[in-house]
Amino acid sequence: MKIIVFESEDWEKPFFDRFDKDHEVVFEHEPLHEDTIGRYLDAEIISPFVFSDLNRSILEQMPQLKFIATRSTGFDHIDIGYCKEQKIQVSNVPTYGENTVAEHVFALLLSISHKIPEAVSRTRQGDFSQKGLQGFDLRGRTIGIIGTGNIGLKTIRIAKGFDMNVLAYDITQNEAAAKEFGFTYTALPELLAQSDIISLHVPENKTTYHLLSDPEFSAMKDGVVLINTARGKVINVKALLHALSEGKVSAAGLDVLPEEPSIREEAELLRSFFTRKYDLENLLADHILLHMKNVIITPHSAFNTREAVQRILRTTVENINGFCRGNTPNAIN
Ligand code: NAI
Repeated sequence: MKIIVFESEDWEKPFFDRFDKDHEVVFEHEPLHEDTIGRYLDAEIISPFVFSDLNRSILEQMPQLKFIATRSTGFDHIDIGYCKEQKIQVSNVPTYGENTVAEHVFALLLSISHKIPEAVSRTRQGDFSQKGLQGFDLRGRTIGIIGTGNIGLKTIRIAKGFDMNVLAYDITQNEAAAKEFGFTYTALPELLAQSDIISLHVPENKTTYHLLSDPEFSAMKDGVVLINTARGKVINVKALLHALSEGKVSAAGLDVLPEEPSIREEAELLRSFFTRKYDLENLLADHILLHMKNVIITPHSAFNTREAVQRILRTTVENINGFCRGNTPNAIN
């Protein structure tokens, strides 16, 4: 079969060596998008990361496609409805990096609480003054965790190590974990009203789209800190901008943005202007966020440690191998 691995780096190739004997494996550095789909019309198996936009119009152009092995936990970049219709199987990597993403949550949070970006940029210029660098302790603060799956729970465990109080909200409550790790489930409004810091750990889907919008921001404590490593569209970015401008949200650490694939580079932005559907207002809001001093943005890199990426690759190879043998692990449809 023809297997195409998108968004790949050279060092990742050896992980796929086992397929060389029976399959043709092609590696591409770029994500799959409208401009390049013409080169891959005969793909039978593809392995994208999250920046490939596998919408219906792209998938329709690969009539021989049988399997998508996404190298991510989230699969909101894939039209799962179309895949079901066409019997294209999809697998993901469910648990490669709960500790990795949870560690990134604290990288963002500590950067904010200790004003690390500003402090570092000052000392690089030879300025060792303390003015304006006073931060705040995490100890004793209340963190509200929205979504207590793999990453949310790991974030809670780390928060406990900082002596923080933890409130949690999820549509499914894990009482055993609440007892074991010592946190309390609340309704969403209560979590919003009581948390000094809020961190999001839900998937992007219909129920989580704009989970935090104007009413939710209004219900938050003044000066709350917001961390989002989940997906950009879980937050209404215009409502976030408004909340930042009013001081309702004092700072935000974001690893994900609503128009993230378009905003990644100017060339992509220009190309997508003509080929992709996107929300111009959200794109503008993303650009404004990028330049705000109290907002720290990382480029969807929470997953990106050596160990996590190796785990992703090993699971993806197992997924592809299983599919070829008729028994796909981690199938999501
Ligand atoms: P998970 O599936 O283990 O947990 C998700 C939790 O969200 C579940 O407990 C579920 O009940 C809850 N949930 C779903 N809909 C909800 C709703 N409407 N309201 C409240 N709770 C709801 O997923 P995991 O592994 O913890 O990952 C969470 C998300 O993190 C992923 O879906 C992905 O989007 C994102 N992620 C981001 C990465 C990054 O590099 N920034 C890397 C990996 C994941």
